[in-house]
Amino acid sequence: MSPIRHLVSIDDLSIAEMRRLFERAREFSVEPQSWSHLCRGRISASLFYESSTRTRLSFESAMLRLGGGVITAADMGNSSASKGESLADTVRVVGGAYADLVVLRHSSEGAARLATEYSSVPVINGGDGSHEHPTQTLCDLYSLWVERGRIEGLDVVLAGDLRYSRTIHSFAYALARFGANVVCVPQPGFEMPEYVVRRLREEFAIEPMRANASRLGELASTSDVVYLTPQKPHQLSLFTDAKGWKVGRVDAVYMTRPQTERHPTDPSDPTSYMQLGKRAMSADSLRDAVVMHPLPRRDEISADIDADPRSIYFKQAARGVPLRMALLAAMLGEIEVLDPEQPRGAEVHPIPEGDNPCEAPSCISRTEERHVTPRVRFQGRAPHRPACAFCSNDLTFAFVGCTTTRHYHAADSPAVRQIRPDHQVFFPDAAAAEALGFVRGAQPSPIA
Ligand code: NCD
Repeated sequence: MSPIRHLVSIDDLSIAEMRRLFERAREFSVEPQSWSHLCRGRISASLFYESSTRTRLSFESAMLRLGGGVITAADMGNSSASKGESLADTVRVVGGAYADLVVLRHSSEGAARLATEYSSVPVINGGDGSHEHPTQTLCDLYSLWVERGRIEGLDVVLAGDLRYSRTIHSFAYALARFGANVVCVPQPGFEMPEYVVRRLREEFAIEPMRANASRLGELASTSDVVYLTPQKPHQLSLFTDAKGWKVGRVDAVYMTRPQTERHPTDPSDPTSYMQLGKRAMSADSLRDAVVMHPLPRRDEISADIDADPRSIYFKQAARGVPLRMALLAAMLGEIEVLDPEQPRGAEVHPIPEGDNPCEAPSCISRTEERHVTPRVRFQGRAPHRPACAFCSNDLTFAFVGCTTTRHYHAADSPAVRQIRPDHQVFFPDAAAAEALGFVRGAQPSPIA
């Protein structure tokens, strides 16, 4: 029997699988009522620890349209979570006897990954903290594909709170894999997180660049813009030269709201958040651009462009139903879309000893410490850059130990590269290493 497929990150689907999902979604969108035989007798559970309108309701609508049933814990404050029950225990019960599939939304990064360790049925990540939101990305890609007939080579602007918007992170990875151009216009102070930029660079061959420039409507001139320019030659056409990076014609602007619930210090709105309205949309560079937003919006897209045919955010939300119908039917094995093997991702290993080296305060490895074996994800062995397998943040450590030799080395020592990934232990300081019986390893002699 093939292993259960989960959808935790957008990387869990291959490009070919995504294309097949779009084809099926288009088919389902024609007459959504006529598919009620597909998932008859199947049950999906919505476990929502954070608020949601579109994600939960479109999943539930999709399941009902497929003839299946839905059980829902939309307000986990009313569930045993309020009695202190862990996510792990909840998923053990719900993702087994109660349902054939679990859709989970949670405020901790990595929650869906943890859920996969306890669920005996497929888990779909409906958003985990500021980390990823792969099904929103599928809806976004599907919308682009419907509107433009392709994704590869499109010039897409990502705007707003790029730091805490999980939709942005999953979308950027997927756009990179499809070979689209990605231009980032962050709200100042809310730039793309370092770990996302690093993955784009190291795994998807997209090179982040910073240029000068300030408002969306002036994309073709100067503003505070980070340009992410793919390295593949076919993707360079948008940019003029290495100094005056200019955007020509944009295919889509993807705007996001300030994710104030995740802003650590000031929970109020950032003052003067960027806004996309009639004036900005009159820019020549945006003449043919569709305007997208995962919703809910606040004031970052003004209502004066709602009737503009380029504004597709409500269509984008509506397309969530056929897309999620296709995804549910695929994950329940009722239509042939998924390949038996999950695409091979980066190497992941449990950390065999020592304290959890992940320092991200809202990572599930910290918020559910009792149930989590810290895990490390290796992006590649040189440079040596382990990340938390739950929240994807880079791990911070000064020393690395080897569980077989019991030696530890400075993190930047060439000796570290010789240690098998599954034998590596991470220490903040020498005292932590020595407390576990590790001894300082010899420094490799410099090459003469
Ligand atoms: C997004 C989310 O929850 O991350 N909403 C959604 O799922 N459509 C975007 C947001 O809340 O800003």
